[in-house]
Amino acid sequence: MTTDARTPNVSSSNGATAPSESSQPLIHQHGREIQAFGTVRQFPIALSYEARMESCQLLNQVLADTMILYSHYKKHHWLVRGHTFYQLHLLLDKHADEQLELVDLIAERVQTLGGIAIADPRHVAEVTTIPRPPDGAEEVPAMLSRLLEAHELIITNVRDAITATAANRDDGTNDLLMSDVLRRHELQVWFLAEHLVDTPATRA
Ligand SMILES: [Fe+2]
Repeated sequence: MTTDARTPNVSSSNGATAPSESSQPLIHQHGREIQAFGTVRQFPIALSYEARMESCQLLNQVLADTMILYSHYKKHHWLVRGHTFYQLHLLLDKHADEQLELVDLIAERVQTLGGIAIADPRHVAEVTTIPRPPDGAEEVPAMLSRLLEAHELIITNVRDAITATAANRDDGTNDLLMSDVLRRHELQVWFLAEHLVDTPATRA
């Protein structure tokens, strides 16, 4: 009898083998790709192929940019410095957590539409249009400005996607983009922008 990873043999005390009774995990398995990125499967959700394809493309762009924004928030959470360190350290981590929630919501919407959510960071890096920051540390106002510009880039794409999904009657994606994504971005922009107001700290 031949053996491979699918039929691992286990020797018993009398030398016999019992592959079917083994609890050996079937490791080192490799297979072909069963759905290509950029394609959609058909689910019975009464939404056209064209609508699902366009929504998946728009969502994957927002998803890639959101993953990058999440990473920028963590980077700046770690690298922030100076007299506002503690409040910004906490705020940037809160925003990072909220962006990570959006990553999951957007990715699972792509899957719900039959598509393939972008996931691998190397693929994400190829797709995002958010500029790469320096590997080192910037001054705090530059960090915050960089985050605000990333937010506005995403918001611009989200507003376009809201228009497209409304026209396509993809109400589920439209509601996600408007209620969860857009409003979260707008709120985070407010909280960030208030840290760039040049106001006296102790004397009016
Ligand atoms: Fe932390």
